[in-house]
Amino acid sequence: MTAADQPHTLDLRDESRPRMAALAGVQQREEGQTLELLFAEEPSLLMQAVALMMRNRFHWEVAEADHGTWRVRVVDRDAVEPDSLTELLSRDHERLDRLFAIALQHANKGEVDAALPLVESCYQGLRRHIYCENDVLAPHFGIPEESPHGDPTNTMLHEHDNILQELAEIREMASLGEAADASMIAALMGILSGGLAKHEGREEQNLFPQWDAALRREPAPGLLERAKGILNGAEDDRLPE
Ligand SMILES: [Fe+2]
Ligand SMILES: [Fe+2]
Repeated sequence: MTAADQPHTLDLRDESRPRMAALAGVQQREEGQTLELLFAEEPSLLMQAVALMMRNRFHWEVAEADHGTWRVRVVDRDAVEPDSLTELLSRDHERLDRLFAIALQHANKGEVDAALPLVESCYQGLRRHIYCENDVLAPHFGIPEESPHGDPTNTMLHEHDNILQELAEIREMASLGEAADASMIAALMGILSGGLAKHEGREEQNLFPQWDAALRREPAPGLLERAKGILNGAEDDRLPE
């Protein structure tokens, strides 16, 4: 075991504000490091809140509960397989965001040729992701009747149409080669990237936790595995055009 493998332990049992202390500890954790947090009370809700504040950028689990002490283990998110829809879909958001950000950097430099394959990957990734959310998960958990106060599922479905359409336009413009207008492409990508981030944040904060809570109440064997498969291309023949 190397020094980096040694868990770093933070004892928060006497903390008056354990949530803030846990957040600070997780923020200071270095990549690859295992952090252990000790709590005097059951910490699941507190850790869910910390995870939300950090957009689920780490994996946590209650490793041990004994004699009034709860031991929570925090590791890199990629060190474990996603075990909830929130983790799976948030990771895919982050992966798509990274691809899109690199494509945007190229477009900003006028390098449309270099941006195009990344835009294509984003487009394919988003079609899979949106198919999974629209055609598999939303019907499974139920799509409420249109509500005037912006139900999260209806909001999501509506935003997907816009996102895919905007990305399709960018893709079309970028595929013009020499004739492509890099500054226009970069401007449109900048706008879409802001819209995408808001959309993803809303899903991660409102919708996915609702879905995961529903799954805890009523498990659906195979659903998470199916969603993983879809993101990896297992149902590409069923993606809507
Ligand atoms: Fe979405
Ligand atoms: Fe999403």
